[in-house]
Amino acid sequence: MLNMIILLLSYFIGSIPFALVIGKSFYNTDIRGYGSGNLGATNSFRILGKTAGMIVAFADLLKGIIACVLPMALHSNVSPALCGLLAIIGHAFPVFAGFKGGKAVATSAGVFLFLAPLGAFLACMVFLISLLSSKYVSLSSMLGSISVLIYSLFFEGRPIIALSSFICLFVVILHRENIKRMWKGTEAKVGRTF
Ligand code: G3P
Repeated sequence: MLNMIILLLSYFIGSIPFALVIGKSFYNTDIRGYGSGNLGATNSFRILGKTAGMIVAFADLLKGIIACVLPMALHSNVSPALCGLLAIIGHAFPVFAGFKGGKAVATSAGVFLFLAPLGAFLACMVFLISLLSSKYVSLSSMLGSISVLIYSLFFEGRPIIALSSFICLFVVILHRENIKRMWKGTEAKVGRTF
């Protein structure tokens, strides 16, 4: 029963749509109607500005960490990786925002920061290098998640490999519209809007 509650709680934590809450509460803006329409940190940066973007990125990252910490905090043997996975699914398909949320990047980063910090660091480096050279957040996010999978294949056990494989596929699928836009040359570069 406790394990079930922890798993549900992980999904609910992931479901908190910080981009929507912060946009509506402090900027009177529902960012779903602007930019990419995505409920994530990138679209918050784009539409609401640097401060909001950073707060949303941090809060979304924290959701992943908190979900992984839950089993330990509540003395349960449920897998932190499974809790992290449910938080990521909650972030992408939030019950509190009509099941249309973000693209799983910041919450996945939080989960990996907890489960495989070296992998998260590597992904962060790949993300930054790609962002500086391409100016595409979406491309950099996908490359970051692919790098976590490659890292896991070499240095982690089966549960983390399974998790990173899922996340990698999930992140790429959630970026399918970005991929189409990049292909057409209409994807917004960092600092620009659509
Ligand atoms: O983390 C999401 C980012 O990779 C893309 O966001 O708003 O450009 O679709 P967006």
